[in-house]
Amino acid sequence: MNDSTPQTPSTATAQDTAQDAARPSAPDVAGVRVAVIGAGNMGGPVVRSFLAAGVRSEDLQITNSTAASSDRAAQELGASSATRAEALEGADVVVLGVKPYQILDLAAEIGDQLPEGALVISLAAGTTLDRIEAALPDGAVVFRAMPNTPISVGEGAVGLMRGSAVTDQQHELVRALFSRAGVVVDITEEQVHAFIGAAGSLSAFVFAIIEAMTDEAVRLGLKRDLADSLVQQTVRGAATMLLESGMHAAVAKNGVSSPGGTTVQGLAALEREGVRSGVAAAMAAAAETSREMSKG
Ligand SMILES: NC(=O)c1ccc[n+]([C@@H]2O[C@H](COP(=O)([O-])OP(=O)(O)OC[C@H]3O[C@@H](n4cnc5c(N)ncnc54)[C@H](OP(=O)(O)O)[C@@H]3O)[C@@H](O)[C@H]2O)c1
Repeated sequence: MNDSTPQTPSTATAQDTAQDAARPSAPDVAGVRVAVIGAGNMGGPVVRSFLAAGVRSEDLQITNSTAASSDRAAQELGASSATRAEALEGADVVVLGVKPYQILDLAAEIGDQLPEGALVISLAAGTTLDRIEAALPDGAVVFRAMPNTPISVGEGAVGLMRGSAVTDQQHELVRALFSRAGVVVDITEEQVHAFIGAAGSLSAFVFAIIEAMTDEAVRLGLKRDLADSLVQQTVRGAATMLLESGMHAAVAKNGVSSPGGTTVQGLAALEREGVRSGVAAAMAAAAETSREMSKG
């Protein structure tokens, strides 16, 4: 399997099985000490995911912009809070979860405190590995991880990019840390723009569509809690059906459409309203923004 090629979560083939057998067993993450600088909307789900993978709560130290914010996040996520200096001391892995405009300054600030050999994982969209490496001491081991928020329930996607000093062993450790996130794929920095459209930002587009469907269900006369559960269950069921069967979405869609029936009329309205082109435009805008941001 080519590490730089995104892999789909399809049914394992005999070749996959042979390659998995050849791959060394996943590293044990219990005992790995992690500092998370910035556990907000994205850093928080990363914390949940690392804890689910087996990092101990006492080994996962959160440091936000204030002590009160660090304490609050640590309590909510089941981790520990610390000052930046405390969190960095002895850390094996340092996650940078601040906003993209802060990331290079933060990397420069922590350079002196970074323990020898610590792995740095940046979550920031649009800041390339070479710029993060340049802001850190020579030889720093840097990853970029592009997650989405559903990793907090183990059903997300993470695109992993490895910097110039990363060893295969360090790569396996980071994959093990994200092993309970959902799907973890190795991508290149050229692929990250498409990845953001298809996963990183996509969860927000799906939330917006779910909201629209729920509001319409209420307008049609259902109570809000029933509308919520019907829409959410149907969206989950449709995705699970495709994932488990490997069926193409068009085939599944045709399977619901009888001639002149309710579904086909609804689908025709969907096309007339431009939903497909709207979705494509949203994904393209996210990918294009990522590409622009990475120009620096
Ligand atoms: N949101 C997503 O879906 C998503 C997806 C993929 C990647 N990302 C990336 O994730 C990163 C964070 O985005 P976000 O949406 O999670 O932002 P966010 O919710 O605003 O979280 C940012 C976090 O950084 C902390 N912070 C700010 N300044 C700090 C400082 N000087 N020292 C320590 N911590 C500091 C904030 O702490 P306080 O709360 O105390 O201010 C907050 O916990 C971005 O680089 C973004 O590109 C986000």
